[in-house]
Amino acid sequence: MLTRLDFQKMKQNNEKTTMITAYDYPQAKGAEEAGIDMILVGDSLGMVTLGYTSTVQVTVGDMIHHGKAVRRGAPNTFTVVDMPFMSYHVSVEDSLMNAREIFQQTDAQALKVEGASDEILVLIKRLTEAGIPVIAHLGLTPQSVNVLGGYKVQGKDKKTAEKLLSDAKKVAESGAISLVLECVPKELAEIITKEIDIPTIGIGAGIDCDGQVLVYHDILKYGVDRLPKFVQAYGDFNKEGKAAIESYISDVKKGSFPTEKHSFLIKNKDILPNS
Ligand code: KIV
Ligand code: NA
Repeated sequence: MLTRLDFQKMKQNNEKTTMITAYDYPQAKGAEEAGIDMILVGDSLGMVTLGYTSTVQVTVGDMIHHGKAVRRGAPNTFTVVDMPFMSYHVSVEDSLMNAREIFQQTDAQALKVEGASDEILVLIKRLTEAGIPVIAHLGLTPQSVNVLGGYKVQGKDKKTAEKLLSDAKKVAESGAISLVLECVPKELAEIITKEIDIPTIGIGAGIDCDGQVLVYHDILKYGVDRLPKFVQAYGDFNKEGKAAIESYISDVKKGSFPTEKHSFLIKNKDILPNS
């Protein structure tokens, strides 16, 4: 399994890091078999696998349930699990306990938290000291969607761009092993990537980040109707899946499935009860 030191080396060697989200056993297994560098059990699971309207409804229990399934599917891949909404904002003690619960139960390699408030910076330090590597997440932070007023590109003016850079430096100084930048102008993400020593992983943040992450369901067009501008779909599960299910329905209705090939036959008909 790759470790944080490998990701650090990749940044130094200008080698891109690849990351994809996964929420269950087959997704994780497929991602590992494809050779992905890192898996994120994102709290986006609330939307793409549970059908919630945002990540705000996701619980610690949800993250553990799905995190465990992912680890079973990808036992040899560096796996990051999101700390969900309000599980790291009440007190440092409660945050540490929630982190311990998620980290121990899922056997993850790192946890991810959104933001760079003073409290979050303290938490990153405390978790790191306790032996839990932390990935930071700045720019568009979906757990704050109701405060931000929507899913919008962040850091588009001088003041917020400067704040993003300074926040990036702060999370790095606090011990974060990597930084996810979501929906940040390409030019700003490039500067942040140059200015901090830890690898940046972009989603909607341009080509200059040290790595890229996308949501599994977006890459494969799986259950999602609309793709954000920053997504490239590399498959179409919606189309292929629907076509397959339609064929199955049609075959059963017209009696062409199952055939003898799909049936268990007995050689000695004498054993059959009379009818
Ligand atoms: O939950 C998630 O999928 C994420 C990525 C968008 C980075 O946090
Ligand atoms: Na997330």
